[in-house]
Amino acid sequence: MFYLSLLFLMSLCSEDLKILETKESSETFTIHQGEPNIIYWMPEADNAILMPLQDKSFCQVKQQTVQTETQQFTIIQSDDFKDYEFEIDTPLNFREFIGMVHINDGMLAITSDAIAYLIKFNYDNVISSQGFTSYGNSKDFAGVIWKANLQPVLTSIESRDELPQLVYSKKNNLAFVLYSDSAQFFSVSEMEKNEKTMHVNQISNWIQREERGLTKEIDGYVFSAVGKAGMDIYEIKESDVTFRYTVTQKDLKLQRAQLELKDFAVFKVKDGQYQLYLLDAKKGLILAYMYINSSEFKFELVMSLEEQRGGIAVDTKNGQNIFAAFEQNGIYFYIEYLVNFSQKIFSIITKQVSNYRIVDVDATDEFAIISGVNHHQIVFNNGYDFLAPNKEKILFTQIGMRDFQFFQYTYEEDQLKEAVRDEYQYDDFFFGVTATNAFLTKFRFVPARVVCFADQNVEEWSKQYYTLQFNKSQVVNNSISANQLIRTTKNFAVQVVTTYLFAQQWKLIRILLITLGGIILISVGIVLFQFRKYRIQEAQLDTELSQHQQKSVDESGTKLNDSSVIIKVQKVE
Ligand SMILES: *[C@@H]1O[C@H](CO)[C@@H](O)[C@H](O)[C@H]1NC(C)=O
Ligand SMILES: *[C@@H]1O[C@H](CO)[C@@H](O)[C@H](O)[C@H]1NC(C)=O
Ligand SMILES: *[C@@H]1O[C@H](CO)[C@@H](O)[C@H](O)[C@H]1NC(C)=O
Ligand SMILES: *[C@@H]1O[C@H](CO)[C@@H](O)[C@H](O)[C@H]1NC(C)=O
Repeated sequence: MFYLSLLFLMSLCSEDLKILETKESSETFTIHQGEPNIIYWMPEADNAILMPLQDKSFCQVKQQTVQTETQQFTIIQSDDFKDYEFEIDTPLNFREFIGMVHINDGMLAITSDAIAYLIKFNYDNVISSQGFTSYGNSKDFAGVIWKANLQPVLTSIESRDELPQLVYSKKNNLAFVLYSDSAQFFSVSEMEKNEKTMHVNQISNWIQREERGLTKEIDGYVFSAVGKAGMDIYEIKESDVTFRYTVTQKDLKLQRAQLELKDFAVFKVKDGQYQLYLLDAKKGLILAYMYINSSEFKFELVMSLEEQRGGIAVDTKNGQNIFAAFEQNGIYFYIEYLVNFSQKIFSIITKQVSNYRIVDVDATDEFAIISGVNHHQIVFNNGYDFLAPNKEKILFTQIGMRDFQFFQYTYEEDQLKEAVRDEYQYDDFFFGVTATNAFLTKFRFVPARVVCFADQNVEEWSKQYYTLQFNKSQVVNNSISANQLIRTTKNFAVQVVTTYLFAQQWKLIRILLITLGGIILISVGIVLFQFRKYRIQEAQLDTELSQHQQKSVDESGTKLNDSSVIIKVQKVE
């Protein structure tokens, strides 16, 4: 029975999957001895295989990858621990960053003991561009410009065993410090003024909840996942925040089940209409529409995806590629879904087990970061398993990463936007905090390539033959096809030369020589032509002169122009 079903599955797979074969023209590459040569790039190739036709081959294939480069600097020094304001020891009586939020031109970071740091970017070090103000140590990518102790304004901090959450509202330029039972907010522009005092307001009708998951601000509303209670919505009005609504299973017309929200993502369709991606602890992902207008909130269930317990985090940037992370029986894994709201359909692009604990998921337009504590994985959108069955994971390490965010260009006046327009996209950077540091990481995508290296022992002119194969995704109707791929095959030879010049350079030099030859020929031609023209003119002048000489003898005295005068003088001598 098992074999039968397996066979059935395989035939189904091969029937479903259409491979479009293409062949590129064969080529011979010349490589120089003793140095690595990249002879061939394969942009968009998801997985490449190089088959050598001989032993001891000197070429190998490198898969596409993302290179990262991180700058960081320490903010919390051990000295900082001396200025403890605490009288009573609490579990959180230590000063470490636990969260941050992207604000205009910088970030706001908060420690476990509620000290808020306002940090501004030194754009000169974020990108190499001139003319920005510098903060702190100008060699760092950012600098601390203000530090605020929020402890006095927090109610009952001594008894807290909960970490605060930071939220920023771009629309109102307000920052929120949230706990399960209380919430305060203050104006970031007031903080930026760097004065001795700052007003911190309490949200008076903040609802106490046993559990509080992610909280986000969207278009002037604060959405807070509150576990079994559902999702609370608050409205920000100028400098006042009021409770508006709680979303429960009734709004979504979910039968039997009670919601248990862990995380959510929101995608704006248009003003007043949003797509919600709710991650429920028991049910998995639930998709719904949300309609907001000044008088009411309305919800409409679109569908529940497959039941999946143990949700940790979910995110989407484009509203179609959804990354969700789960933990079941101590095993961490993530799933990339492709969803279509209007058709009410979904498919699974990939489902992968993670070797490390997954803490969060953050998506950009092209990829998602599945972040852990020290190790983080980059996963490209539409990374269908069939494209690259033995794909290697793209990992990077950032020890003790506590929180991070991508640069968001929705901040119109963000100076970075202007400065990096050509060079980078916003999601080529992310920045955040570790326990004591602020860090900035830049990405660079490196496509798959063939690299060859022949050492000194390789004989000159020796030649090797290879077959290269790689898969690329197929785009159908503007979206990546879930059941088609393009497989390209290319045969090539590699020849070792010790001459200093490579084939490519030879080509260039030949072109240069030909051009130079052409220029010389043309110049010689011009010179010869000019010379001939000059000889002809000279001859003409000679004949004209002799004619004039005769005339001036005849008509001397009547001619009044200079030449005749000279001729006359000459004549006299
Ligand atoms: C918007 O508000 C109007 C009343 O002002 C109400 O009739 C309508 O149903 C609301 N629409 C939505 C989608 O919430
Ligand atoms: C959903 O599917 C329909 C029909 O295939 C298509 O026209 C539409 O563009 C899709 N929506 C998205 C967001 O891809
Ligand atoms: C391309 O995809 C097919 C189908 O999944 C797979 O069998 C094959 O190994 C892949 N080829 C390469 C070069 O990755
Ligand atoms: C692509 O779109 C065309 C017309 O818009 C449609 O006929 C065709 O079936 C679509 N192909 C796929 C694979 O969805």
